[in-house]
Amino acid sequence: MKKILVVIGGGRPNGNTNQLVDSFIKGATEAGHEVEKVSLNKVEVNGCIGCNACRYGKPCIQKDAFNELVPKIKSADCIVFASPLLFWTLSSKIKAFIERFYCIAEEDGNPPYGRYESYPIKDAALLMTSADNFFWTYEQAVSYYKFAIINYIGFKDKGMVLAGGCGDTNGKPQINKTEHLANAYEFGKTIYRE
Ligand SMILES: Cc1cc2nc3c(=O)[nH]c(=O)nc-3n(C[C@H](O)[C@H](O)[C@H](O)COP(=O)(O)O)c2cc1C
Repeated sequence: MKKILVVIGGGRPNGNTNQLVDSFIKGATEAGHEVEKVSLNKVEVNGCIGCNACRYGKPCIQKDAFNELVPKIKSADCIVFASPLLFWTLSSKIKAFIERFYCIAEEDGNPPYGRYESYPIKDAALLMTSADNFFWTYEQAVSYYKFAIINYIGFKDKGMVLAGGCGDTNGKPQINKTEHLANAYEFGKTIYRE
């Protein structure tokens, strides 16, 4: 049994992204994992302001919901980042959440090339939805996930579901007409299967 924290950075209450996340959670729960979902539409997490107080042993000076999320992040085995594709990348809400990882970094006397501090070691996954479904649709989002979360922060990638072709936000969510919900359910079920 693993502890999985799913953080969803925006999207409509019953929209494509929430449906994708819920399918993943259904699969993961059925596989015996303990899953918690946090919506950044419901709790406020602001971006890092770069004051560097955390580099002098102080807790983050921003008094928002991130402080309550820190113990959840620390105790999770896996953090799932979920977002609709907004202007060809992750939402600003999930980006703000990622920026705040700065305050949980620890000093590393011997960091690997290109890294300046160490982060808790976690597994990570990416769940995204979009209107378009071209071969380049997720290029920026996946590039950011790989650079920032996997290569820099150092989390271990467990996989992604990139749900293209879910319809735009002018109309009803269309993800139920695609295979993505079944894929997310299967991903949740098998994420820790050997
Ligand atoms: C502000 C905004 C920007 C968007 N930008 C893109 C985009 O760059 N590419 C794309 O394919 N879809 C884009 N979309 C469509 C959404 O990614 C898509 O409809 C998504 O599934 C909506 O998620 P939701 O149903 O969870 O709200 C955008 C939607 C909004 C509201």
